[in-house]
Amino acid sequence: MLDTSEFRAALGLFATGVTVITTLDDDGEPHSMTANAFSSICLDPPTVMVCIAHGTNTHGFMEKTSKFGVNILRQEQQELGAHFAKKPEDRTADVEFNYSKADDQLPVLNGSMVFFGCEVLGSHVYGDHTIYVGLVKEMRRNESGAPLMFYNSRWYNPAED
Ligand SMILES: Cc1cc2nc3c(=O)[nH]c(=O)nc-3n(C[C@H](O)[C@H](O)[C@H](O)COP(=O)(O)O)c2cc1C
Repeated sequence: MLDTSEFRAALGLFATGVTVITTLDDDGEPHSMTANAFSSICLDPPTVMVCIAHGTNTHGFMEKTSKFGVNILRQEQQELGAHFAKKPEDRTADVEFNYSKADDQLPVLNGSMVFFGCEVLGSHVYGDHTIYVGLVKEMRRNESGAPLMFYNSRWYNPAED
């Protein structure tokens, strides 16, 4: 058996970008959570995947609405990445952000590098996570600047480290 903390540490050596997954809550209001378990799948059909823990609010909202947005963060949005990694009741810091509406009402986190608006095509439950395959129905790009990155359990800027 693998030692869990060693496994976690080894996985942390895979440097990733950082996204915020946007959904609609039970009142139709925007909800956001930070996620780095994101990957492209195919160009045709245009598909991506995210891996969402069952303990999150986001999981419940995705199960109900069958759609989600992926917002790729830029370096200047590190504070937002940290903010949306907290449980909503702990999001007490005064962090500035705002949303636009995508075609299908999904929230677009303004200032992100890229937004993908996705419809859930399929899902696979494994352990305490669900892998969602999303068909990308809308895309918005604004990619000037550098991406926010996460590596070894911390925010990472290759230009500084
Ligand atoms: C860098 C980073 C990446 C994360 N990636 C994921 C992820 O891919 N999937 C996931 O379920 N949680 C991920 N989390 C944890 C969620 O952001 C966290 O549980 C959040 O509080 C969930 O919010 P919610 O319950 O309101 O949806 C990540 C956290 C950080 C800091």
